[in-house]
Amino acid sequence: MSRLVVVSNRVATPTESKGSSGGLAVGVFGALKDMGGVWFGWSGDTVTEGASHRPPHIVQEGNVTFATVDLSRRDYDQYYKGFSNGTLWPVFHYRNDLAHFDRHEYAGYRRVNAWLARQLLPLLKPDDVIWVHDYHLIPFAEELRLAGVKNRIGYFLHIPFPAPQVILNVPVHEELLKSLSCYDVVGFQTDEDEQAFQDYIVRHAHGVAKGRDVQAYGRKLRTGVYRIGVFPDEIADQAARYAKRKEVRELRTSVENRKLVMSVDRLDYSKGIVERFKAFEQLLESSPDLQNQVSLVQIAPPTRSDVATYQQIRRTLEYEAGRINGRFSGLNYTPIRYLNRRYDRWVLMSLFRLAQVGFVTPLRDGMNLVAKEYVAAQDPDDPGVLVLSRFAGAAAELDAALIVNPHDIAGMAEALIRGLKMPLDERRERHQSMLAALRTNDLGVWRDTFLRDLKASA
Ligand code: ADP
Ligand code: F6P
Repeated sequence: MSRLVVVSNRVATPTESKGSSGGLAVGVFGALKDMGGVWFGWSGDTVTEGASHRPPHIVQEGNVTFATVDLSRRDYDQYYKGFSNGTLWPVFHYRNDLAHFDRHEYAGYRRVNAWLARQLLPLLKPDDVIWVHDYHLIPFAEELRLAGVKNRIGYFLHIPFPAPQVILNVPVHEELLKSLSCYDVVGFQTDEDEQAFQDYIVRHAHGVAKGRDVQAYGRKLRTGVYRIGVFPDEIADQAARYAKRKEVRELRTSVENRKLVMSVDRLDYSKGIVERFKAFEQLLESSPDLQNQVSLVQIAPPTRSDVATYQQIRRTLEYEAGRINGRFSGLNYTPIRYLNRRYDRWVLMSLFRLAQVGFVTPLRDGMNLVAKEYVAAQDPDDPGVLVLSRFAGAAAELDAALIVNPHDIAGMAEALIRGLKMPLDERRERHQSMLAALRTNDLGVWRDTFLRDLKASA
């Protein structure tokens, strides 16, 4: 039987992948345990130049090998901070205004991909199935192919794939697309993403796209849409079970009889948090009956903090939270509770269960697992309402949410009010419909359909 080799920028450690960490780690670890295999990637550590060229650090856990490598500071600056998060992330999220391009960073991105591929080579067996994840590793298969690797190699993009006119802004767009053509299967979160990729191939690469079959740059590959999901029953069980934890009790006691709107995101400009704060402000302004009666809890752990655009969004949010709280706070009331910290996964799910509204309004998002987790965590007898951006990949499946445009501040405020006042019957109906969508396409389906297509792609 073939083994699975997963390659991703970050590798969840064995303890994390057993249950406390995010959906991807849990889902991928499940497949690794079934098939046996290797999870390879960056350790998350940066070390001095010489020390960074050590071979992978190996941890064996049953039939799964975790193999991680350290990066030098220069590698980190060019590959992760520079090209991945200073060029690809903003452009792929339609934020050209926040993107920069630097040839040295791009050279570093390719150099690190080539080096990572070389580190994996000795761990590979001829019939391994290789599954590469996300925008950090677009050239990874090309490097393996150059080294003579003939295995099936699949790629899944967790973030949006932008329209051709947008990706043309990256000066090396053609090299990136050529690299993607070295995979056997390229998977996307939504139909729009797959279509945008195929449009580029047809219009700008003189390629052919028929259904899911693509020919470009002298290679044949398949595309597909694989919507990443969650395991809803596990989340519901844990959300109920963790309800007695200290943090959950503290929040319940502190809100007293007020209603709660809950948002959880990495502190990223793509998540639309500024617009969300303004919508909450508008709600307080336009509905005196809700003043002092509802709080927004925004949990936003800092991320990529050494990238200037992330420092800027953090300053903006601090300013906005302070300004709005200054305007509407009472001696016993804080409208926006803004917390820059992480929580244990199951505590977070129990916090979701306390909130009458899940407010998930990214300006762009590949999928947005938080939206799915919020729905899964609800009490089915008395569920909360999801207010969801139309620009989250999740909106394609969760159409029973209150769908909003995050640029329409007044529209978001209205949706919040509607959610807070929604009758129980309507809440139950919407929740059942969304839960059914989560069950139809859970995390196992995402993983199994991708791997089925990849195995069939030989
Ligand atoms: P992204 O991949 O852009 O960060 P997603 O919403 O798809 O966005 O996934 C984020 C994941 O990280 C979710 O599983 C969410 O529960 C988790 N997460 C987000 N914020 C926190 C936090 N403060 N503490 C713990 N987990 C968090
Ligand atoms: O889903 C997008 C993503 O970039 C993942 O690849 C990554 O694990 C997550 O967001 C967190 O970002 P980072 O690894 O930069 O902290």
